Amino acid sequence: MRRELSGSIILEDTITRLRDKNTEPFEFRRLLQKLGRMLTYEIKGLNGRGVDIDTPLMSTTGVLVPDNIVVISVLRAALPMADAVLNEFETAKLGIISASREEMKLDRSFTINSNYYNTPDLNAKIVIIVDPMIASASTILFVLEKINQENPQKIIILAAISAEYGIKRVEEKFPEVDIYSGVIDEQLNSDGYIVPGLGDAGDRIANTSH
Ligand code: URA
Repeated sequence: MRRELSGSIILEDTITRLRDKNTEPFEFRRLLQKLGRMLTYEIKGLNGRGVDIDTPLMSTTGVLVPDNIVVISVLRAALPMADAVLNEFETAKLGIISASREEMKLDRSFTINSNYYNTPDLNAKIVIIVDPMIASASTILFVLEKINQENPQKIIILAAISAEYGIKRVEEKFPEVDIYSGVIDEQLNSDGYIVPGLGDAGDRIANTSH
């Protein structure tokens, strides 16, 4: 299942300012956090924990978020968004995976360099992977292959901007994964960047130029 957020002027404002190259890094990080919150509220289909509670007036029942959520932050670009997701899923555990692009192949996918993998037990967990840019999907497919080996109950991806090409690759290999994206752009350029996109998300949060 894929869902592109739409219909909210706050979303449009957020995406526009993220795309704008004149947006300063501190504001860019804050906007990614805001988008992370919006994406989190879009997540549907999770079964909550039923609880009995007492209001000041009477006893009633309620629902709490499941206690088996793990948020995966894909370094480095996911840091602000993953922080926002963790602020909403207060009882979630955090896993961190580094994955960066190495060499581009003929089909515009990339070889991936990963030298850090530290996640809690993912067996039977609801795993929410935060990866702001799904371009060729090389990074997210690398992460999905690893995570899938640990038999999670469900996998959800949260992205700020995705390319149609990358989403299709994920859907082909992992049709059961839910993908929530702020916006889906049509194109990748010859360097494998999403266009219009927002540039290199990692550089823009870190105030670096590679
Ligand atoms: N990663 C980014 O940060 N930006 C893109 O456009 C593609 C991958």
